[in-house]
Amino acid sequence: MTVLSGKTAIVTGAAQGIGAVYARALAAVGAKVCLSDILDTAEAVQAIKDDGGEAIGMSTDVTDIAACEAMVAKAVSAFGAADIMVTNAALFAALERRSFLEIGGDEWDKVMAINTRGVFNCIKAAAPEMKKRGYGKIINISSSTIYSGVPLMLHYVASKGAVDAMTKALARELGGDGITVNTIAPGFTMSDQIEAQREKLEFYVNLSLTGRSIKREQAPDDLLGALVYLASPASDFVTGQAIVVDGGMVMH
Ligand SMILES: NC(=O)c1ccc[n+]([C@@H]2O[C@H](COP(=O)([O-])OP(=O)(O)OC[C@H]3O[C@@H](n4cnc5c(N)ncnc54)[C@H](O)[C@@H]3O)[C@@H](O)[C@H]2O)c1
Repeated sequence: MTVLSGKTAIVTGAAQGIGAVYARALAAVGAKVCLSDILDTAEAVQAIKDDGGEAIGMSTDVTDIAACEAMVAKAVSAFGAADIMVTNAALFAALERRSFLEIGGDEWDKVMAINTRGVFNCIKAAAPEMKKRGYGKIINISSSTIYSGVPLMLHYVASKGAVDAMTKALARELGGDGITVNTIAPGFTMSDQIEAQREKLEFYVNLSLTGRSIKREQAPDDLLGALVYLASPASDFVTGQAIVVDGGMVMH
């Protein structure tokens, strides 16, 4: 028996990057995991199976509510439930950093559609299944940028601020159903696509190293303690909260 034995988790944006690391970690502590993304999840699913875990992959665009409902239905049909929802999918690494004066309306809307409405869609699709069982763990992924006011990505910061606000309001709407809603706010993390752009993003690498209490770069693995805690019964009386995992840069 491990801490998430018998539970099913859905992780969005799990084909690569931090999402794939989250999915593998949840499987390692016993969860059956559904990995969804607009990219192919086959490699990430295989990595979990190679570890001896249970996982399936699916193609889901989180901006499409029907696709999100199909994602939850597939998880329930494969594994019998949808106990844990990690809303990790976002437009992040692919975003060009630029002044807010140069962010066009279409780009703004696209970031909001994926990062904010995508989270709303996933939760709207999963909550009815959680309510049926009187139990659920919703883990939203925001960003420490909402507290530190990082420049040159205003659409992103605004989209993640909305995720944090949704966490609080949804915690109140869903608490009576035994469902917790919490947020992980990661600091600047060397995920696959960020590592690939290390030189281009040197400003942010240095900003984080200078500002942190713990003077090293942040790896995806640094987020796993908070993830497993919020997914497990150990956090059943914790809801509406944001855990900042950033080596002690932001303190709120
Ligand atoms: N890496 C960091 O420094 C950092 C810091 C704070 C927060 N975060 C957040 O952590 C999460 C993961 O970060 P990452 O660095 O791995 O980002 P990433 O951009 O590499 O990965 C995001 C994933 O979401 C998927 N995705 C994009 N649009 C989608 C859509 N419409 N439907 C479904 N999937 C979609 C992508 O294909 C990708 O696999 C994101 O929510 C990001 O905002 C990252």
